Amino acid sequence: MADRVYIFDTTLRDGEQAPGFSMTIEEKIRVAQQLERLGVDVIEAGFPIASEGDFEAVREVAKVVTNCEVAGLARTNDEDIDRAWEALKDAKKPRIHVFIATSPIHMKHKLRMEPDEVLERSVKAVERALSYTENVEFSAEDATRSDPDFLCRIFQAVVKAGVKVINVPDTVGYTVPEEYASLIRKIRTEVEGIDRVIISVHCHNDLGLATANSIAAVKAGARQVECTVNGIGERAGNASLEEIVMLLKTRKDVYGYYTGIDTRQIYPTSRLVTQITGIAVQPNKAIVGANAFAHEAGIHQDGVLKEKSTYEIMKPEDVGVPSSALVLGKHSGRHAFRERVKSMGYNLTEEQLQEAFRKFKALADKKEVYDEDIEALIA
Ligand code: KIV
Ligand code: ZN
Repeated sequence: MADRVYIFDTTLRDGEQAPGFSMTIEEKIRVAQQLERLGVDVIEAGFPIASEGDFEAVREVAKVVTNCEVAGLARTNDEDIDRAWEALKDAKKPRIHVFIATSPIHMKHKLRMEPDEVLERSVKAVERALSYTENVEFSAEDATRSDPDFLCRIFQAVVKAGVKVINVPDTVGYTVPEEYASLIRKIRTEVEGIDRVIISVHCHNDLGLATANSIAAVKAGARQVECTVNGIGERAGNASLEEIVMLLKTRKDVYGYYTGIDTRQIYPTSRLVTQITGIAVQPNKAIVGANAFAHEAGIHQDGVLKEKSTYEIMKPEDVGVPSSALVLGKHSGRHAFRERVKSMGYNLTEEQLQEAFRKFKALADKKEVYDEDIEALIA
């Protein structure tokens, strides 16, 4: 089985769908162009039937993107599929992404449909989408709360109809790694012709397991991961692109997979999404948070100054962060202080340095210390 994991970015669809994250068409185009620089395989640009704005955004993104596939989401009815195609038809590599819910809860309360009806509709929808493009993905919404046998039956039917990708979403972030992996294994074992299609995973982060679940599924045979920049998305968000990619890169020794992502574009992409949405990532967010490569504790700073790998498992440059930041605060030690003073151009005697360090410690007890504060206390 191939070791390449395809990255399907849904920042502009599932991410943008979350409250407070909406973007204008121009902003979506800027993000899409940056996603292309980042090297994602698929950009899900929106849900064309949802609104005129979404339709236009998918159409414009489809026109400007050249290397990546561009996907548009559609429910299993004709209007959705036709509208999705209308928006995607100018794309170099279009993909129609058809979805319907398959769990008893969703089928009963939301769709008010019997399982056989859902299956029949899915096949019809996929056939209609295939009449426009051979690149069709089918998602079984709420797959992880669906009856696994029914899930295999519906996947079997759409695979037979000719889809390229089947997606197994953990829509409500309910599954756990072992359970999700065994569901993927069951699908691989029971669906005939599965070797001709890509199994995709799409995890939400309600229990903080989106990355762990996605990777467990990859280990079990999935080869497309759906994710978003900064992990934005419905409720607690989607699996975060930067975590998936850097986990696969940093622990290649354990997993052995690779992606087509230029990891040096991760931080610039994260910053762009933050700037556009106006919503900052939490400082301790893995990979892209302000503190992800910052060291404040004296022992840590001393270690990093002697040898970065003491406390850094990734190089900041590899994700596009200029360099690791040593934050000066009350936990900082003499070594970090001396280096900062030196880098600011001061050449203090040992005695002057000790005096400045003593004053710095007193100040750091009250607040974070910036370069201006150090200049003031040296003066
Ligand atoms: O979470 C979900 O199930 C989705 C589907 C539309 C893929 O976003
Ligand atoms: Zn989702």
